[in-house]
Amino acid sequence: MIEKMESKKFEEILEDIDIETEAPVEEPMRQYYFIKKARKYVNELSKKLGRPLYACTKTFGCQMNARDSEKLVGILERIGYVEEPEEDKADFVIYNTCTVRENANLRVYGRLGQLNRVKKKNPHMMIGLCGCMMQEPEVVEKLKKSYRFVDLIFGTHNIYKFAELIVTRMESGRMVIDIWKDTDKIVEDLPSERKYSFKSGVNIMFGCNNFCSYCIVPYVRGRERSRNPKDIIREVERLVADGVVEVMLLGQNVNSYGKNLKEPMSFAGLLQEIEKIEGLERIRFMTSHPKDLSDELIDVMAHSGKICRHLHLPVQSGSTQILEKMNRRYTKEQYLALVEKIRAAVPDIALTTDIIVGFPGETEEDFQETLDVVRKVRYDSAFTFQYSKRTGTPAAVMEDQIPADVVKDRFDRLLKEVQSISAEKCSVYTDTVQNVLVETVNDHDDTLLTGRMSNNLLVHFPGDVSLIGKLVDVRLKECHGFYYMGEMIR
Ligand code: SAH
Ligand code: SF4
Ligand code: F3S
Repeated sequence: MIEKMESKKFEEILEDIDIETEAPVEEPMRQYYFIKKARKYVNELSKKLGRPLYACTKTFGCQMNARDSEKLVGILERIGYVEEPEEDKADFVIYNTCTVRENANLRVYGRLGQLNRVKKKNPHMMIGLCGCMMQEPEVVEKLKKSYRFVDLIFGTHNIYKFAELIVTRMESGRMVIDIWKDTDKIVEDLPSERKYSFKSGVNIMFGCNNFCSYCIVPYVRGRERSRNPKDIIREVERLVADGVVEVMLLGQNVNSYGKNLKEPMSFAGLLQEIEKIEGLERIRFMTSHPKDLSDELIDVMAHSGKICRHLHLPVQSGSTQILEKMNRRYTKEQYLALVEKIRAAVPDIALTTDIIVGFPGETEEDFQETLDVVRKVRYDSAFTFQYSKRTGTPAAVMEDQIPADVVKDRFDRLLKEVQSISAEKCSVYTDTVQNVLVETVNDHDDTLLTGRMSNNLLVHFPGDVSLIGKLVDVRLKECHGFYYMGEMIR
């Protein structure tokens, strides 16, 4: 990634590019060429309007999308757009969409309707859509038919072409659509603009091969591809040189990292390499599929000084019968045994999870099995979801879809259980001293800072803004359910 530190070098590369000739074929040079070209157009329009052009990037969905958006912002900034948080005030609005559940899609359509009204007042405005939703042909059909005011549509596999697509739109003046079904391509060294100066997500792999029967992700993100360990290490080293102390390694199933590389490498092996990077203080990762979590990984976690004491281990359901229908490839007993093994090796680890209620065919007994797992594991926190039917997935055509009121009732009962357990779990740290990474000034009270512990819990405490990005020790004074109030001791 080209981060801030290297923007001088990036400018030097741009200087040598001649935009009057044909675009280079090789990446990333081709995209640098289009960045320079788009910059010219943006400058011209900005001169005409007598003001800078503003761009607003809105991100839906998971950490993968958040990281992709940093790449979008990096490209937009190098093109010459100034970042603007409000859509209404922007000349370029891009939605990086999610389609994992139905309501994610509905939100995007709703907001597009509002944007259309804004665009009527600002004829220079361009609207772009990308991300997982765009990988669904029905979505693109609908946009082509009923949302003609959208300027640019692309998918998850060609995000690196953003600058090129912007130029195509600027030069043609018509709706540009570029969606790839899948790719085996990974383009390195694109610009990126981090949201936080001190922590960063790092993709270690893309796509998913698991085809859990409810899940759309393998269809919209394509097959699993691991990045080269050298490229990952180089990226983390550069981030650290630029002030990053915590990285979050990202993949839909990090435990299967490296399997498709020319020289295969395990995720545990990769973690050991990253651990060696001097100046890096904390390592997180997500997500871990229980079926692929190795003993080697548990051992590496147990002996690591940098890997955070937190594991997100999605269970989805506690019923072996439902797990089988979900194609999760573990049983309730195997999952519980895995949890026990992890806790034995890393006693202070915080465990979090994802749970779906109302999967087709789920009976009250199946649901009770899920509650049983929640009570046995005692998660530090859990994301709970009502099953959402995704067209094209095997579960969508399964018999016995569960009525909405039954799903809602189970969901409410599950949420109550999860919340009361996590409140109890959280409170056990009262009066301990924890090392926290200071992340932000508190939203509600600007005399307070907010920091994150290794186990992912938040603590608010009085302190100066200059501490943001630093690791400090904080005494946890009062527990408030999901977070603490504390006092810095050094
Ligand atoms: N790769 C990750 C999950 C990514 S999606 C993993 O395997 O754990 C994040 C979460 O969304 C999933 O864990 C699941 O709980 C939820 N989810 C996915 N598809 C869903 C659907 N169709 N309905 C409801 N929740 C769903
Ligand atoms: Fe979806 Fe399963 Fe892949 Fe996770 S592992 S992204 S739930 S298919
Ligand atoms: Fe959503 Fe795509 Fe992530 S569907 S959850 S943004 S991989």
